[in-house]
Amino acid sequence: MRKFGLIGFPLSHSFSKKYFSDKFEKEGIADCQYELYPLESIEQFPELIASAPDLVGLNVTIPYKEQVIPYLDELDEKAAAIGAVNTITIRNGKLKGYNTDYHGFLNSLTQWVGANPMPEKALILGTGGASKAVKASLEDSGIDYQFVSRSPEEGQLCYEDLNTTAHQHLATSTLIINTTPLGTHPNVDQLPDLPYDQLTQNHFLFDLVYNPLVTAFMQKGIDAKCWVKNGLEMLHGQAEKAWEIWNS
Ligand SMILES: NC(=O)c1ccc[n+]([C@@H]2O[C@H](COP(=O)([O-])OP(=O)(O)OC[C@H]3O[C@@H](n4cnc5c(N)ncnc54)[C@H](OP(=O)(O)O)[C@@H]3O)[C@@H](O)[C@H]2O)c1
Repeated sequence: MRKFGLIGFPLSHSFSKKYFSDKFEKEGIADCQYELYPLESIEQFPELIASAPDLVGLNVTIPYKEQVIPYLDELDEKAAAIGAVNTITIRNGKLKGYNTDYHGFLNSLTQWVGANPMPEKALILGTGGASKAVKASLEDSGIDYQFVSRSPEEGQLCYEDLNTTAHQHLATSTLIINTTPLGTHPNVDQLPDLPYDQLTQNHFLFDLVYNPLVTAFMQKGIDAKCWVKNGLEMLHGQAEKAWEIWNS
């Protein structure tokens, strides 16, 4: 039996276990199993690895995507650049970390924009773990970007910057990516504080949130005839990339 699993805390609403268990059943993969490993502290990680010798692959979720790095033997180049890991391979006792959120986002963005010209400038809303994978994807696509944060560091914008009429950030940044959890079920009425009246049909709104499938942020875009996209394809993409890595 090849064992896979997810570490994080808490894990009550995990997408991955259902995704992989359904996949194994649908595709007749009989020798694989996917389990949840809720760890109250990352210090329990070596214990888990020692106690499960048939474990060959792991996914990592909140709050351990960064904290797990010191426990790994090797880092994929992209994961090192991003500074966060969401996938681990375990081979001959050696642990290697990858970031498949990067691939999930990049592939979903590329397919979605499709035949349209790729936007030249983007706003990344939020500065948490997922925003780092988004940033790396934009850099590799040649898209200029600025972070928007509630507590901006140097070079970042705050939401007031977007809402003052002196600046025309939305006029030049036609790709807007929500990497905040705003709008996630059950808080479906929440949305980033943007001047939505400045949206045009040239704007692309990408929400990493996938529950609900149409968020309040996306609905503002739909109302303004923008292109909108939720995070579901990215979610499936990052899982499939993990599967590819575990089997490579
Ligand atoms: N679709 C996918 O495959 C996928 C993959 C990864 C994550 N996600 C989703 O992306 C979201 C973010 O994940 P994450 O891991 O980056 O979370 P995170 O580390 O908690 O970061 C979220 C960031 O959003 C901002 N934020 C948090 N609460 C906010 C609020 N009330 N108002 C405005 N901004 C707020 C914060 O940035 P500032 O403090 O700078 O404002 C924070 O750093 C989650 O909803 C997650 O489910 C989706």
